[in-house]
Amino acid sequence: MQAMVLDGGRSLGHLHVVERETPSPLPHQVIIQVKAASINYRDYEIVTGIFSRAFPLPLVPLSDCVGIVVAAGADVTRVRVGDRVCGTFWQGWLGGPADLADPSRQLGGALQGVLAEFVALDQDGVVRVPDHLTDEEAATLPCAAVTAWHALVTEGGLKAGDDVLVQGTGGVAIFALQFAVMFGARAIVLSGSDEKGEKAIALGASCFINYRREPEWSASVLTFTGGRGVDHVIEVGGAQTFTQSLLSLRLAGQISAIGYLGGQQGTVDPLLIFRKRARVRGISVGSRQSFEDMNRAIAFNHLKPVVDSIYPWTALGDALLALERGRHFGKIVLTF
Ligand SMILES: NC(=O)c1ccc[n+]([C@@H]2O[C@H](COP(=O)([O-])OP(=O)(O)OC[C@H]3O[C@@H](n4cnc5c(N)ncnc54)[C@H](OP(=O)(O)O)[C@@H]3O)[C@@H](O)[C@H]2O)c1
Repeated sequence: MQAMVLDGGRSLGHLHVVERETPSPLPHQVIIQVKAASINYRDYEIVTGIFSRAFPLPLVPLSDCVGIVVAAGADVTRVRVGDRVCGTFWQGWLGGPADLADPSRQLGGALQGVLAEFVALDQDGVVRVPDHLTDEEAATLPCAAVTAWHALVTEGGLKAGDDVLVQGTGGVAIFALQFAVMFGARAIVLSGSDEKGEKAIALGASCFINYRREPEWSASVLTFTGGRGVDHVIEVGGAQTFTQSLLSLRLAGQISAIGYLGGQQGTVDPLLIFRKRARVRGISVGSRQSFEDMNRAIAFNHLKPVVDSIYPWTALGDALLALERGRHFGKIVLTF
C-alpha cells in the first residue's frame, strides 16, 4: 500500500509518498480502507515544525479520515467488516472529563496518522458515520466538528435562545455556526472577508462583523445582543481576540478557548474575567461519546458539513498551502 510520510525534516518539502506493508489486524483492531481525509490547522503546524511538540519522524500525518472496515481481529465486536467509520482524534478517550484524554494517544502526532491507503485502529477508536454524508463530508468530522460540539454542547450546554459568537469561517467555526443554528441559537460570525460573511449569513448566521474593519468588535456584539452579550464564545484567535471575547460576553457567559490563530503571546486582565463572572474552558477536541452524540444529531437533522475544496490525497502539500493562505470557508478535504 501507499502512505504519506513526513521524513527527514519538517516542511512541506519533506512530505513523501512511500510504499508500506499493508497492515493486518491484531485481535482488538480493525483495518480501514481510507476513502477520504481532512486537514486541520494542527496538521499544518506539525508538518511545518511550528507545533508546540516535535513528534518523532517518520510520521504519517493527519488525524481525520473516513473509510470502510475491510478486516477485523478476532476480538472485535463494536463494528463489522463493511461498516463506514471515522477514527477518533483521541484514541482511548471514550467519554467523561478531559483528564481521561492521554496526550500520547492523538492520531497524526504522538501516534501515527491516517494519510495512508489502509490504517489499523483499535476497535474502541472508531465510530460509525451518518449514512447521508459523502465520504468527503464524513472526513471533516473527527477534529473540527467534534471540537465545536464538545465545546458548545457537551461542556457548554447550548440551548435554544442562546447567542453564540463564532470567530472566523474555518473548520471549527463553521461547524459551531451550524450547531448553533441546529439548536435554535443565534450565531454571530466574525470574518475578515465580507464575501465569507455573506456565506455565513446564507448558512443561518444572524449577524456578521468584519474584524478587519472593526477591530474593537465587542461594541457591535453588545449592540446586536441589546447590551446583554453572548452566552458562548468559540475563541480561536487567542492572544489577539481574547479581550474582545471577554468584553462580548454576557455575565457568567462561557468562553471555549480553542485556538491561537492570532498568536500565542498576549495579556489577559484577570479582573475582566472576575467582573464578567466568565467561565473560561480550554477545549481539546472531544471524547468518543461526544463524537457519537454529534453523529446522531447530524443524522437526525440531515446536517451537511461545508466542504470548501477537495484535493487528491497525494497533494497534501497543496492542500496545506491552501489552508495557510486562508481563503477557505469550512473544510479542506483529501480524497483517495
Ligand atoms: N483545541 C482544539 O481542540 C482545537 C481543535 C481544532 C482546531 N483548533 C485550533 O483552532 C484554530 C482554528 O482551527 P481551524 O481548523 O478551524 O482553522 P482554519 O480552518 O484554518 O480556520 C481559520 C480561520 O480563522 C479565522 N481567523 C484567523 N485569524 C483570526 C482572528 N485574528 N480573529 C478571528 N478569526 C480569525 C479566519 O477566518 P476568516 O477568513 O473568515 O477571517 C480563518 O479562515 C486553530 O488555532 C487550531 O489550531 C483547536
